[in-house]
Amino acid sequence: MKRSLMISLFIVIVGIIGLSIGCVKEGTQYGVLGKCVGPYWEVVKKGAEDAGKELGIKVTVFMPQKEDIPQQIETVETWISMGFKGMAVAPSDPEALVAPVDLAMEKGIPAITIDTDSPNSNRICYIGTDNYTAGKVAGEKMAEILGGKGKVAIATGSLTAMNSLERMRGFEDAIKEYPQIEIIKPILCDNEETSRAVELAETALLNNPDLDAFFCVYAFNGPAAATAVKAASKKGEIHIVSFDVTDDHLYSINEGLIDATIAQKQYLMGYEGVKILHSINKKGMEATLDSLPKNEEGGYIIDTGVDVVTKENLEEYLKQMDKWGVEHTFKL
Ligand code: BGC
Repeated sequence: MKRSLMISLFIVIVGIIGLSIGCVKEGTQYGVLGKCVGPYWEVVKKGAEDAGKELGIKVTVFMPQKEDIPQQIETVETWISMGFKGMAVAPSDPEALVAPVDLAMEKGIPAITIDTDSPNSNRICYIGTDNYTAGKVAGEKMAEILGGKGKVAIATGSLTAMNSLERMRGFEDAIKEYPQIEIIKPILCDNEETSRAVELAETALLNNPDLDAFFCVYAFNGPAAATAVKAASKKGEIHIVSFDVTDDHLYSINEGLIDATIAQKQYLMGYEGVKILHSINKKGMEATLDSLPKNEEGGYIIDTGVDVVTKENLEEYLKQMDKWGVEHTFKL
């Protein structure tokens, strides 16, 4: 090959590589940042990816292995430096994520929160469960199951994330109406590690032979408590009120290990999250905000709602899951 031809070829190849790198940088890309790996977040991911497919845009979904605040901060910073066009974040600590979320906003990258909020940040809106109210619903259900009397252990995956704190606050407020219900301390916190969650539930059973129930705040906790209760042969004796519906919850509800679970609509958190980010970029901030509901304080909060699932309405709920296209291996 002639030297001049080789040089031209080289220039063309470099040009193509440059262009494609440029494309990745310029290409619309939204980031969805969860709190830990597991079936709950897989559903959020599916929602976000479905929205991405519909809109024809690239969506990157990332979850740390377990609750990991530094990794969440690093991820947001990386996405900012990569020039993402928007991000939906579930802060494991609402205050720790203020600076990175605000930095994204300063750089003109729309940032919203999903699943758990960071109200002191400049995030545009929050999409997820009204966690205080949902915690209250769980408390009322627990009181009903216990007949207004008993000892309850609380198990959660985080003592910093706002959704966990708000659920516990709502639960405790509901329980206040029943002076004969006692919440034992300390709260069992596993940082979203399944094996640790089972260990903590087992220890609580051993240390409290008179325990009557577990209130399980996160998706991991219900199945973990059910495993411990089953291993201790205390099915029916120890009640469980949990959050979320995963396959493990469905089996445990059917088996009579979990009495009731507060089902979140996490698919919508991913799906609507991406759609809102895209709308901000396409239609503009004002037009998008005009279409969102405002709360009493003027904040933009989208409550995705909850369902209470028990053995009685399991069949109906499964039909609902099929309608939504949420996969489950459990069948009645
Ligand atoms: C919570 C998430 C949590 C998940 C997995 C859900 O109930 O909303 O914040 O990461 O459980 O444990």
